Amino acid sequence: MKILHKIEDVRNFVKEEKGINKSIGLVPTMGFLHQGHLELVSKSLADNDITVVSIFVNPAQFGPNEDFESYPRDFDQDVSLLKEKKVDYVFAPSLDEMYPENFATKVVVSGITETLCGAKRPGHFEGVATVVTKLLNIADPDRAYFGMKDYQQLKVIERFVRDLNINTEIKGVSIVREKDGLAISSRNIYLSDEERESALSLVKSFNVVQNLLDEGERDADVIRERVIDFISGFKYTNIDYVSTVDPETLEYIGFIEDKFLLALAVYVGKARLIDNKIFEV
Ligand code: PAF
Repeated sequence: MKILHKIEDVRNFVKEEKGINKSIGLVPTMGFLHQGHLELVSKSLADNDITVVSIFVNPAQFGPNEDFESYPRDFDQDVSLLKEKKVDYVFAPSLDEMYPENFATKVVVSGITETLCGAKRPGHFEGVATVVTKLLNIADPDRAYFGMKDYQQLKVIERFVRDLNINTEIKGVSIVREKDGLAISSRNIYLSDEERESALSLVKSFNVVQNLLDEGERDADVIRERVIDFISGFKYTNIDYVSTVDPETLEYIGFIEDKFLLALAVYVGKARLIDNKIFEV
């Protein structure tokens, strides 16, 4: 496995590999890899001849009061996990390599970024869209892999890839969960044992929704209220949002006709956890 830090080196190997008709899969990450990332890596290894994993904690997607400085990092551990998976290349650029002096461009996606996390984290999706555009331009992959835990991120990426005619197929990969159902996230490391118990309220709330739907409830406001009550009943929880939206447009749904996405963002202690599920009636 080769570890590259320079954009030019990535471009060179991409040219070489594409020259001999090898397909390339890219897995963009911010490191501190867990089973969720490794699932993306497995999918890329299965679909492509060459897999590149990028590791870059992107400051542009963190707000001023967010956890950029303290975001967990363990490069050596990441490298050994990726070696074990037999990944071909790791791209780990420095801040200057990605954002040289006088960097002045942003990729802004409108509409779909204005709800859910986009409404709560101003500038976040501009940061994501900008860095992912750069990574796609640098590695020019045939396919790129993103987890569905960050559902809105996936939809934003699909949108600008389509709008800007970027020649990469975007692959969404199902949420990976711990045995007890907690969605795996780098931020789970912030949870104490007691908070970890409360964090399960997110996945458990899916049963509350399913039961209401089974009883015939179709008013999304009622469903949302019940989810809010349920999650608020757990210690250490502080709800950022509970939303019912159209799974494609991410627009608010008030009355449930066929399917909807339940999207949750909840602080448990200092960890901001997200989770989601598509329900069909
Ligand atoms: O999902 C993440 O880890 C990040 O948002 C991504 C896609 C690597 C961009 O920095």
